[in-house]
Amino acid sequence: MAPAALVAALVLAAGAATAAQGDAARGEQIYARCAACHALAYDRVGPRHCGLIGRRAGAVAGFPYSPAMKASGIVWNVGTLDRFLAAPLRVVPGTTMTYAGVPEARERADLIAYLVRAGRSPAECGSGQ
Ligand code: HEC
Repeated sequence: MAPAALVAALVLAAGAATAAQGDAARGEQIYARCAACHALAYDRVGPRHCGLIGRRAGAVAGFPYSPAMKASGIVWNVGTLDRFLAAPLRVVPGTTMTYAGVPEARERADLIAYLVRAGRSPAECGSGQ
């Protein structure tokens, strides 16, 4: 393989791995945009994010979700979060999460990696989540 092609292949492979896994440290910085309305361990304008992965949409007890979110049938995982966060109002029409979303796939991957890591962290979310 010519050196240039080899470099291109390596760059592509590295890019794909990064996009698939996401960088939780970068995601933590992107989460600042969410923190206007959300916290990990308690409800604010938006519901808490601890326990998010594997949870049904609209399932935090006592949080005043929109009927649209409760009826969405979504279960939150890497794939559904990626879709929702790209365009919240399009994926769940009628949601009260009036936020345009995170258009960049790379940023979404980083953000989701952070949400997964935080959800598993006893320091952030306790052992019960
Ligand atoms: C302007 C305030 C606001 C911002 C900013 C915001 N959210 Fe939300 N979010 C909400 C509200 C309100 C809801 C509840 C929506 C509903 O019931 O329709 C919600 C719901 C959600 C849900 C569904 C949770 C569940 O329990 O079903 C997820 C996931 C979510 N937000 C992720 C994010 C992420 C990640 C960001 C940052 C990129 C973000 N949100 C930014 C207000 C916000």
